[in-house]
Amino acid sequence: MSVFDRLIVTTLPLVPKFIVGKVASRYVAGETLDTATAAIRALNAEGSSCTVDVLGEEIAERTAADAAVQQYLELLERLRREQLDTGVSVKPTQLGLGLDEDFCRENCDRLMEKAAEQGCFLRLDMEDRHATDGTIRIYQHLHERYGSGVGIVFQAYMRRTLQDIAELPKEGVNVRLCKGIYIEPREVAWKLYESVRANYLAALEKLFRQGVFVGIATHDEYLLCGAVALIDRLGVPKEQYEFQMLLGVEETLRRILVAEGHPMRVYVPFGADWYAYSIRRLRENPKIAGHVARAFLSRG
Ligand code: FDA
Repeated sequence: MSVFDRLIVTTLPLVPKFIVGKVASRYVAGETLDTATAAIRALNAEGSSCTVDVLGEEIAERTAADAAVQQYLELLERLRREQLDTGVSVKPTQLGLGLDEDFCRENCDRLMEKAAEQGCFLRLDMEDRHATDGTIRIYQHLHERYGSGVGIVFQAYMRRTLQDIAELPKEGVNVRLCKGIYIEPREVAWKLYESVRANYLAALEKLFRQGVFVGIATHDEYLLCGAVALIDRLGVPKEQYEFQMLLGVEETLRRILVAEGHPMRVYVPFGADWYAYSIRRLRENPKIAGHVARAFLSRG
């Protein structure tokens, strides 16, 4: 990232919201069920499956978690009617994990019951280190009831990840492996770019050897190359993996992998709470300064 790009990243909170919205629109499938389902349909037509996320961050009150559950139930009902090739992804803190784990588990149960009824896969996203243990416990609870209908995420930057993988249940496990997006201290996380890559490939190999289904969630060409080599070396069948990418990121690379015959799933976030998610994505865009400058120049 250039000095100018880094400067824009640090001053992002000062950038007017409409400019952020303009630059970030590629990362978000609009604010409504209509815009989200249209995006999913287009991706399905291109040969990619999807996972859809109702945007929202950690909630502070139970009523906000109830509202999030309601939004997810409406989403599931819409997906049932439209027969799209998509699962759903959900953030446990959006369902109350930070308030009360039992309350969050009950909310997850409500969603899972509806998802399972219509054969829709549900994944618990992984958030910062304060949510890791609770998320794993809720995953174990759901996995006991719903088996392979539910999945979890592990982050390659976490020092604990190899151990967490070793403790996974033996059957019907579905893991998304990503680098990790939150800013964590050195005590719990690998901090060097190369260390995270090394841990990613070590975790991926361990998951494959344990027979786990893996969603290989990265846009890092080095890791994609390493994953393809590992799939080849271990003879991993297509039923045991898929690549996963975020909407609007590295679309050329995504299409190349699909054309090569690899299963692909795109993470499709939508909803009124697009701002915090968009800021996270913009911070990861190595060409952010150019995008922000263009949006400024074409405003109005
Ligand atoms: P890296 O950030 O090094 O990016 C590699 C290359 O991809 C960059 O050099 C650039 O070319 C391109 N790129 C990446 N981001 C870009 C952007 N925003 N705009 C333009 N180009 C970009 N994290 C988490 O903590 N919990 C979770 O549950 C999830 N879930 C999740 C699902 C899916 C499907 C994906 C792909 C990712 C996540 N993540 C996540 C986010 C993940 O942890 C990580 O922050 C991002 O994927 C970026 O890391 P990469 O592996 O892509 O590498």
